Parts: sequence; structure tokens; C-alpha cells
Amino acid sequence: MGGGRADEQEVGFYAETYDAAVPDWPGEIRFYLEAADWAKSRGEAVLELACGTGRVALRLALAGAEVVGLDLSSDMLAVAREKSREVDRVGWVEGDMRSFDLERAFGLVLIPGHAFHNLLTPDDQAACLSCVRKHLSPGGMLVVHLDHQDVGWLGDLVRAKGGVFEEEETFERPKTGRKVRAMRAWAYERSTQTAVCQTRWEELDENGDVVEARETEPIRLHCLFRFEVEHLMARVGFEVVATYGDFFNQPLADDSPQMIWVARRPEDHADGRETTPSTGGDFRPEGERRDK
Ligand SMILES: C[S@@+](CC[C@H](N)C(=O)[O-])C[C@H]1O[C@@H](n2cnc3c(N)ncnc32)[C@H](O)[C@@H]1O
Repeated sequence: MGGGRADEQEVGFYAETYDAAVPDWPGEIRFYLEAADWAKSRGEAVLELACGTGRVALRLALAGAEVVGLDLSSDMLAVAREKSREVDRVGWVEGDMRSFDLERAFGLVLIPGHAFHNLLTPDDQAACLSCVRKHLSPGGMLVVHLDHQDVGWLGDLVRAKGGVFEEEETFERPKTGRKVRAMRAWAYERSTQTAVCQTRWEELDENGDVVEARETEPIRLHCLFRFEVEHLMARVGFEVVATYGDFFNQPLADDSPQMIWVARRPEDHADGRETTPSTGGDFRPEGERRDK
């Protein structure tokens, strides 16, 4: 934890521009703040897995939660460290969310921003969830934010549009003040439920001409479907307490844009029994809940 500054360490373009390119999802920060408050009310800390540049973790720490962020990428963590130099209560760990041992327990574990899609096999996914379970105190909560798969879009990738670069977003690169156009080419492998994505960033001058273009290696993302996640949670011994379709606690429906899973590590009992959760996945006090 702690360590160097991003301006001392040359970080890659993805890490450098991540915060400028990726906006918050509607309602997500308020949702995570409520969850972090719930953990704090139990006197427990929050662990964010695949925390990237600390987009979420830092907001929770600034609001008073004790937070640890873990990520595989030293570049992403360098940005997180640089942003949090003045912030207490947050620590960063370089590690793999499939196999880590922080030798402590947390009240809440978060996997925001679709990061869990980076785990490509059921064994990797189960290994990650088992690690999470080990790091949760009994009754502790897990929140996983996943994409709700759009089978129409995936079907188009298989039939016609696969591998074709299209503009997905533009953002301003803070370092140069120039506009960047992010072009992506997606493909979908049905047999493994894998979406493959290649990004080309085109940095533009004031006339809209490309001054620099960068291309990534293809990244592979596993497309998780609802009942696959239910099976995974059961395999690892989590109790699913809510499956939302957005961060406003709406139940998952056909047109939901997201899948947000709230699961709980059951309470342990001396006789080996485990009990089911007594509260749902809305972390706010009873009288203020949205879905009641
Ligand atoms: C799309 S970014 C999301 C970052 C952050 N969760 C957010 O919402 O802004 C995905 C992150 O997952 C991290 N990641 C991918 N595989 C990982 C693994 N096996 N263990 C830990 N982090 C991983 C990447 O380094 C990257 O920072």
C-alpha cells in the first residue's frame, strides 16, 4: 500500500485516461455509499476488488468509510495512489482477485464497473468468489455489478457487425486537452460466451484530424447470464439477497441495463448450521427503502 506518484511513474494510456473516459453509472455512487454506511454501522471496512483508478473506492473513503482497493494493474493503482495522496482511510494492494490473502475480514466487498467479466472461466469466477467469502465476516455483504447481456447486440456481432471498428465514445484527454475518439471492434464467441474487444484511440487536433492513434491488444470478457450467476453464488456458498436491474433498486427485468447482485455470507453457527439473511439488499434504514 502507499507508494509512488502517477507523475513519477509513466502509466499507459488506458490508466491515464480511464477517469476521463468512464462516467459513473446512474445512481451507482449513492448505492455504494449506502452500502459502505451499512458496513460502517457494523464497525467494518470495505474491500473493492479490481478497483482500477479508485473511481469508487476513493469516494467511499472521502465519505468516511475505511476502504482497501485491490487491482492487478500497477498502472491503474499508480493513478489511484496519486489521486488519494491526501486521503486517509484508503489503501491500495496490487493483487489478483482470484487469489489474494489480506489476512483480515471486511463487512462489505464490492466488484464494481463490470470488472468481474474479466474472469473468463467458471473456475476463475468461483476462485474469486471463494476468496471474497474468506474475506467477509459472517453476515457480510458482496455487491457485484455486471452488464445485463443484450442478446440482440451479441447476435449482431455474430451475424454481421463482428470485428468492425465503430465510434463508442469521445472524451477529453486531461494531459493534452485534446479530444479522443474511442473506436471499438467487438466480436462474440458463442461457445465460450466470450466478447472480444479491441480499442483504437484516435487523438484529434482542433480541426478533427487524427494526430495520434493507439490500438490495444484484444481483451476478452466473459458474458455472464442471470442463472449462471445464481449457480456460481450457490457453488461458493453465498445467499443471494437481491438482483437489481439498475442502481435504483429496480428488480432485474427484460429491459434492465445492468445486473447488480447483492449476496451475503451466511452467519455461522456452532452446530455447523448457516442461517439465511434477515435483511434484503437495500442498505438504507428500513423506513427509507426504495423498493418497499
Ligand atoms: C473496467 S476496469 C474497472 C475499474 C473499477 N472497478 C471501476 O469501476 O472504475 C477493470 C479493472 O479490472 C482489473 N482486473 C482485471 N482482472 C483482474 C484480476 N484478475 N484481479 C484484479 N484486478 C483485475 C483491471 O486491472 C482494471 O483495473
